[in-house]
Amino acid sequence: MSLLLQKKVSNSVDTDNTTDTVTTEQADTLTTSAQRGKTLFEQHKCQSCHPIDGSNQLTPPLRGLYGNERKLKNDSTIVADEGYIKESIQYPGAKVVQGYNDNMPSFRDLMSDQELQEITDYIKALR
Ligand code: HEC
Repeated sequence: MSLLLQKKVSNSVDTDNTTDTVTTEQADTLTTSAQRGKTLFEQHKCQSCHPIDGSNQLTPPLRGLYGNERKLKNDSTIVADEGYIKESIQYPGAKVVQGYNDNMPSFRDLMSDQELQEITDYIKALR
């Protein structure tokens, strides 16, 4: 195989891997785990309540959540670390964000520990 032909082949493989599931903006920055998490986020229809870009009065924005403070319904304040994000997905009623209703369904029986990690890695990457 000529060098030129090899280059063509590898280019087309790259393209197939990155289109469809990942936007070009994020393809460069998301880890493999976070990329899987993005797919899970879409499969579980999280975006129907949590639009990633744009706003929704019914849900707090997930972009910028990781590492930042949240005031809760009970007036306490927490920092949104990895454990908090996971708890929010498995036990949404445990800590309800102030100003929002306890309307999120639990996903604890709908995903494996690994999938929970992947979806959490995706949310952590939303800066
Ligand atoms: C039916 C609408 C709905 C769906 C579907 C939903 N959520 Fe939520 N989510 C909410 C609401 C309302 C809140 C705010 C109340 C609360 O804290 O529980 C919330 C809060 C959160 C929080 C905490 C946000 C913060 O600012 O502290 C995270 C993280 C989260 N959701 C992730 C997810 C993920 C991941 C999925 C999909 C697996 C999902 N949600 C699906 C409605 C939804």
